[in-house]
Amino acid sequence: MTDLLIKSADLVGRGRQDVLVRDGRVAEIGSIAKAGSATVVDADGLVLLPGLVDLHTHLREPGREDAETVHSGTRAAAKGGYTAVCAMANSYPVADTAGVVEQVAALGKAAGYADVQPVGAVSVGLEGRQLAEIGAMARSAAAVRMFSDDGHCVSDPILMRRALEYVKTFGGLIAQHAEEPRLTEGAQMNEGAVSAELGLPGWPAVAEEAIIARDVLLAEYTGARVHFCHVSTARSVDIIREAKARGANVTAEVCPHHLLLTDEAARTYDPVYKVNPPLRREADVAVLRGALAEGVIDAVATDHAPHAPQDKDCEWAAARPGMLGLETALSITVLALGGPAEADWDTIAERTSRTPARIAGLEAHGRDPKPGTEANFTLVDPAATWTVVPGELASLSRNTPYAGMELPVTVQATFLRGRATVLNGKIAEETTE
Ligand code: NCD
Repeated sequence: MTDLLIKSADLVGRGRQDVLVRDGRVAEIGSIAKAGSATVVDADGLVLLPGLVDLHTHLREPGREDAETVHSGTRAAAKGGYTAVCAMANSYPVADTAGVVEQVAALGKAAGYADVQPVGAVSVGLEGRQLAEIGAMARSAAAVRMFSDDGHCVSDPILMRRALEYVKTFGGLIAQHAEEPRLTEGAQMNEGAVSAELGLPGWPAVAEEAIIARDVLLAEYTGARVHFCHVSTARSVDIIREAKARGANVTAEVCPHHLLLTDEAARTYDPVYKVNPPLRREADVAVLRGALAEGVIDAVATDHAPHAPQDKDCEWAAARPGMLGLETALSITVLALGGPAEADWDTIAERTSRTPARIAGLEAHGRDPKPGTEANFTLVDPAATWTVVPGELASLSRNTPYAGMELPVTVQATFLRGRATVLNGKIAEETTE
């Protein structure tokens, strides 16, 4: 592999530096005049972040390759600045066996755009009745540590308790999709003034909060780790804050769309805004933003949920919930944390890379460059803007709620073990360099 010399990048907290990469690892940082035959990347004016890490990606393979594949989804990840993604288990078949998680990991390796860490299902078929082969998935070549029935809540408390006790034995964790199903039967959007006006059945905030409160108690009782997926309400934040203050072993993520959009969007009846958990109220958005800045919410996770046209271009009630996220997450995070002029890149690196890597146990990711670390980084232009054109996204699907919007910050380059997956803002093989 040829060496790589990144010139004049703004390293978070360390000012402008050159970074020399050899054999996929950082060899030297400082003022480096030349380095033999190294490929030189001019990073003047660009911020170098540790490669982004997504705790929550739906890659749809196996089973729904019409919506996304591991190949297309990881290209979208690379374009968004990601070097690692955690692939959720709600594929067809469900990732509830060693065979399926190994297949997903192998597809990720073959594609080569980002490291793919499969998430194993907690229960067989995500049905919430019987524990999946958690031990076999943990011991498999995919080395699964995080388990989730995402899309479904592990609502049965005894199943949740057993799953927690099990994963604790090998340092694993359960990522909970917090939704008490009895409280959300038939739900179509956030329950509140807007759902009442539109006459759509509501998904009340308490359905999320009740499960988060219960699982905080179960985490404390068992001593096991719980991670809360896509936290969407102000009261959920309160519960997590209190739990952390008591020392409970819990972490939480928020999705970009919950940091920007509200249930007012449902007035359009455009199913692109239908998502689970639903878009909430302005007051929730404000609290989530504050909690992310503060660190009560540990990480941004995309919940990238690609859907084929027939599942989205239909009436609201028939549409599947979910929206694309990988290619817009960094821009939306920057917007939500005060905009590009105010961007605190250290906090952004913490919430989008370092902390999610730590939660998922991905040791080669989420690391600021220093000699010896794997060269997994992204170079972003903090001053640039771009317009979201669905047809130009790398994802196979088109269900982005940001179509036509002008967003701050562009991803100029992404490097996975020193190899460019994105260069000059384009998937590397499409560049002329
Ligand atoms: C997810 C999907 O499409 O897989 N959709 C979503 O709106 N987040 C699963 C889910 O949580 O319903």
